[in-house]
Amino acid sequence: MLDIQKIRANFPILSEKVNGKPLVYFDNGATSQKPQIVIDAIATYYQEINANIHRGVHTLSQLATDAYEISRVKIQHHINAKFSHEVLFTSGTTFGINLVTNGFASILKPGDEVVVSSLEHHSNIVPWQMLCERTGATLKVIPMNEEGELIIEAFDALLSEKTKVVTVNHISNALGIINPIKYIIEKAHAVGAAVLIDGAQAVPHLKPDVQDLDCDFYAFSGHKMCGPTGTGILYGKEEWLNKLPPYQGGGEMIKEVTFEKTTYADLPHKFEAGTPNIAGGIVLGTAVDYLNNIGFENIQKQEEALLAHATKRLLEIEGLRIYGTGKNKASVVSFNIDGIHPYDIGSIIDKLGIAVRTGHHCAQPIMNFFCIPGTIRASFSFYNTIEEIDAMVEAVKKAKTMLS
Ligand code: ALA
Repeated sequence: MLDIQKIRANFPILSEKVNGKPLVYFDNGATSQKPQIVIDAIATYYQEINANIHRGVHTLSQLATDAYEISRVKIQHHINAKFSHEVLFTSGTTFGINLVTNGFASILKPGDEVVVSSLEHHSNIVPWQMLCERTGATLKVIPMNEEGELIIEAFDALLSEKTKVVTVNHISNALGIINPIKYIIEKAHAVGAAVLIDGAQAVPHLKPDVQDLDCDFYAFSGHKMCGPTGTGILYGKEEWLNKLPPYQGGGEMIKEVTFEKTTYADLPHKFEAGTPNIAGGIVLGTAVDYLNNIGFENIQKQEEALLAHATKRLLEIEGLRIYGTGKNKASVVSFNIDGIHPYDIGSIIDKLGIAVRTGHHCAQPIMNFFCIPGTIRASFSFYNTIEEIDAMVEAVKKAKTMLS
């Protein structure tokens, strides 16, 4: 078992007080906290090797370039990509998804179909809608059931030779449901469709193996996995990245520029125009090392215990309903109490030091499905404790009494 107190000591913010109370941070789905080693690595980069990459012959530029490329290889191994040039640095999941949808604008034709799921974050709905508007393709939606699971038979029925892309999240941000992505990828490939997986909510909890999954694209953010904000990765299979046009034009993504014609750089640079978030990219590697040193098996054990305890304790509260009751779940509990607006509970428990997210969680179609304005979402990380969950339950009970 993990020594949670020792791990917590790595995160300076966890010993802060908020509103005069010890911070209980349960908004890990929005962003994770950062260990000291990550915070220090940002300062070290600027103190010791700050320079632009892939440009200068001078020593600092080479040191910065090496550190950036070492981080890319680290992430390649972490997700088990075949080649490091299949790993693109981005500013986050949203950027990665938009890079892909922009690329498909030159591939899709009227009559083609794009399949998304009803469990998606807006960032994996809106770019596909924009793509369909641009190309005349049609958006199809995999429906969900009352447990918050995708209806797989309905997905099977949506597939045809018209299906060109299928996209789902690995784990739902609003409900924590883990989707059967391996099955979805296999079925989509059987009709010749490409598959993008939104892994934003999965990477803090598990280590995706992109070769085993056989997905064509896997997008995720660094800041939800102990890394800096403004960092992310788009994994793409080499053949797809070669097929898609560049997303942004600029320096670093070219082979040769003349006013008549520009030729593009090889992968991964074709998709990395401009000076990137160099410190962020390097430090994302530090965060990945930190998580691997703790070990994803240990992380999962701790988070399963937190989820089980939170589910049991919250259900003691009369009138409380949990959304997302499917079996296969990450450490997220989304709930409401009869007759009380989620925002009111969230505001009261914030005064007691407890940070949760309230609202529609950028997943309005899920809220519409359940006919609710939003939920209270507690999303746990391996550094959270059973005692913190008990504190949240007591705070929610207090809020309920005040608001009833
Ligand atoms: N997508 C993030 C969340 O679910 C911000 O909170």
